[in-house]
Parts: sequence; structure tokens; C-alpha cells
Amino acid sequence: MEALSGEKNASAGDCAFDVEFCGETVHVPANVTVLEALEEADLPVMSRCLEGTCSTCVMKVIEGEPDHRDSVFNEQMHADGAFAPCVSRSLDRRLVLERWRR
Ligand code: FES
Repeated sequence: MEALSGEKNASAGDCAFDVEFCGETVHVPANVTVLEALEEADLPVMSRCLEGTCSTCVMKVIEGEPDHRDSVFNEQMHADGAFAPCVSRSLDRRLVLERWRR
């Protein structure tokens, strides 16, 4: 089985980075998920599985290179910007996200 991109880049993806969302810049430490960091900053995102398998938390990447670690979105959805903040991280120092419009 092919390794997920997150597994291939795990060391880079485990670094701290900043997320810009709703006009706020939120710091995401190495041991904290994007979802947790946003909640801590009073920017809650709906979630359910917290394992990257349900898509409830989907957000859209506007800028930056994401480190996808979910197992729910396919390659095309990732290319369209789908991002699971409960598990996925960033390969860049800054990731700009917005709410996913269904
Ligand atoms: S909460 Fe299920 S994919 Fe993020």
C-alpha cells in the first residue's frame, strides 16, 4: 500500500506553524492539532471523528502547502483544497484556511 503523504513527511509536518482563519492568526504548536488550536482561539469548527475519517471538520486551503493526513478525501478533493484540521498539518510555516462552502 502506498504511504499517505503525511507519513512520508511526518517529521516536517510535526513542526509548529501558523494558521490564518477568519482574519485571525493562530499558532499551532507541534503537539496540537489545527482543530484544537482554532478552538483554543475561540474559532470553533464542527467535528466528529477527530481521526480524519468523517469529513465533518472539512476546511479549504487558500494558501500554503498542506500535509494531508486524513483518509476521507481523495486526491481530487485535496487538489480542490479540502483539508481535515483534526489530523492534517502544514509543510509551510503559514497556512491560510477558510470555511468549506457545501
Ligand atoms: S472530525 Fe472527522 S475528519 Fe475531522
